[in-house]
Amino acid sequence: MLDFDCAIATIEEEHHEGENIRGAMKKSGHMGNANGELQFDRIADEYVCFHRSLPGTRLYLEYLYRVIIQELGSLPANSRILEIMSGQGDLGNEIMKLIGSDVVALDISQKILSYNRCGFLVCGNAIDLPFKDSTFDGVVVGGGLHHLSVSSLPFALSEIARVVKDGCRFCFFEPTDDFLPIHLLRQFFYGRLDDYLGDRDEEIIFYQPMLLSSLKKAGFTEISIRPFGSVGYGLLSQADAIRFLQIFAKKRWFARLLIRFEKFLSSVPFMRRMAFGVTGVAERGIDDDCH
Ligand SMILES: C[S@@+](CC[C@H](N)C(=O)[O-])C[C@H]1O[C@@H](n2cnc3c(N)ncnc32)[C@H](O)[C@@H]1O
Repeated sequence: MLDFDCAIATIEEEHHEGENIRGAMKKSGHMGNANGELQFDRIADEYVCFHRSLPGTRLYLEYLYRVIIQELGSLPANSRILEIMSGQGDLGNEIMKLIGSDVVALDISQKILSYNRCGFLVCGNAIDLPFKDSTFDGVVVGGGLHHLSVSSLPFALSEIARVVKDGCRFCFFEPTDDFLPIHLLRQFFYGRLDDYLGDRDEEIIFYQPMLLSSLKKAGFTEISIRPFGSVGYGLLSQADAIRFLQIFAKKRWFARLLIRFEKFLSSVPFMRRMAFGVTGVAERGIDDDCH
């Protein structure tokens, strides 16, 4: 087992003495609501509940997490993975279960971190990571980067590039709507059915070319971004859809059916692009220590 005392010491010694999380939040352009309350402090209970209590949704998300984890490639023994914008840490848990790595989970919301059972929890900001350079054998994000403003994104990616070791990978999933039919669908539905996410000015749209160029600028090479998540993602992971389809989101057979259908769609060239998101993998240089 790895000891993260060293990381704790780094946090205490080097990280923004006296600066609180809300100050850091302002710096990142992260949105709170009108009261300055962090979005995920407000919705944590419900968010965690719909991710964990609906077996169909749970199954679909495990499928998504495994796709991200697979992209980490082979890892050294006692590897140390950082999950940024970890929320309740379901992705980190899958990593601990499947690979046995030590997982450090970082999120800006103290409330959602209270649900997180990963080995080491840090309440912090993705644009200002409290870790030394080249600390991690891999970094993962599951649907977090789109919560940053466009101007903050490059800072977060540079920070990720800084803390991941050379030759190791940053793997992620992000919702996008670059493909026109998906864009129109999301424009129509998002926030109309429900006020769940609340912050209407949140920059939900996340363009792949922007992501690609920001990753390159941050120093990543070997970048690959692929469409992922169509019917299953749309029907089983979106709060608005789940409200209407709860009865189905409870059924594992429904999730299995949608996963199969998604796999079929992704084998058809045009339909492959009908995705609500992307999975990506980006690597920092090459170093024999890692792969
Ligand atoms: C959509 S949730 C994703 C949670 C989790 N990764 C999952 O797969 O369900 C986005 C998370 O990003 C966190 N977050 C938003 N802005 C952040 C920031 N600037 N730094 C760190 N975490 C942030 C939120 O608190 C929230 O837990």
